[in-house]
Amino acid sequence: MKAIVVTDQAAGLAGMKLVERPEPQPSINDVIVQVYASGFVNTELDWPSTWTDRLDRDRTPSILGHELAGVVTALGYGTTGLSVGQRVFGLTDWYRDGTLAEYAAVEARNLAPLPGDVEFTVGASLPISGLTAWQGLLVHGRVLAGQSVIAHGAAGAVGSMVTQLARELGAYVIGTGRAADRRLALDFGAQEFVDLETDALEDVGEVDLVFDVIGGDTGKRSAGLIRAGGRLVSVVGPPEARPADGLAVDFVVESDRAQLNEIVQRVRDGRLRTNIGNVSTLDDAVAAFNRTERRKGKTIIRARA
Ligand SMILES: NC(=O)c1ccc[n+]([C@@H]2O[C@H](COP(=O)([O-])OP(=O)(O)OC[C@H]3O[C@@H](n4cnc5c(N)ncnc54)[C@H](OP(=O)(O)O)[C@@H]3O)[C@@H](O)[C@H]2O)c1
Repeated sequence: MKAIVVTDQAAGLAGMKLVERPEPQPSINDVIVQVYASGFVNTELDWPSTWTDRLDRDRTPSILGHELAGVVTALGYGTTGLSVGQRVFGLTDWYRDGTLAEYAAVEARNLAPLPGDVEFTVGASLPISGLTAWQGLLVHGRVLAGQSVIAHGAAGAVGSMVTQLARELGAYVIGTGRAADRRLALDFGAQEFVDLETDALEDVGEVDLVFDVIGGDTGKRSAGLIRAGGRLVSVVGPPEARPADGLAVDFVVESDRAQLNEIVQRVRDGRLRTNIGNVSTLDDAVAAFNRTERRKGKTIIRARA
């Protein structure tokens, strides 16, 4: 099968290669998914799990991509809950070969049914950004109606989901980003926007929750904005500064079938809009990820026409 692999950590995105790889075999409780569409997060090249296995042994060449939408073509020993021919979507194990390929072996529990009226490209755009927003706001952030939330990077893949979900949950949302992101952030439902390059973040005043997808100086300054009892939730590593009288939480998104169902249901009924910036084919994917001009939103790779 065709797959996009990396072997050289120093090469960055330029080291991505489209190659032929053997089709994966299903292990216990796995399914094989014929990949119709796959997402990809650029920072994957910085994750240890891209390069080594759980025992820290080199696992290259590793196939990139950890979110997919496709059709089940085979079941492993003991696999229940999904059937051959079923449309599915989900988040795959960080340490296994990924989804920028024609087929992927995935533990069934990491997948949820993809309703027939949701396109594969849309399904593939939801797992990482949708689950991250869901878990950051509801599980780790414990956001409540009436609270105020700063959604950093509100025009980006995760931030646009955070903005929409936080609004649905009844929060007041202040989106942030670059000047050019203002309109998109407001379109996704932010009630205010802070241009991090020219506005003073501190002018926002105290908030109940900051959802940080940027880190660095922005993360540090965010800690000072958390109201007593509030939370700083980070998906870019442990916060460098902590709120004086609140909690700091950093986490890595986990697969959850019930949450995937909740997210896709919201896409179907229009409560949630996905943020796809570009759709490319597997053949063109390496060029799409190495493009010099920036595109907002997720790049989705279609493995099948
Ligand atoms: N821990 C987890 O489970 C988890 C899950 C998902 C994502 N993540 C991480 O979260 C981060 C965001 O992911 P994403 O997919 O949402 O990326 P994305 O689509 O690129 O969104 C990030 C947004 O923040 C903006 N931004 C970044 N730095 C900025 C700065 N200094 N000033 C103003 N705006 C800035 C970006 O603008 P530009 O494009 O113009 O820079 C973009 O709009 C990545 O680091 C990713 O690895 C972690």
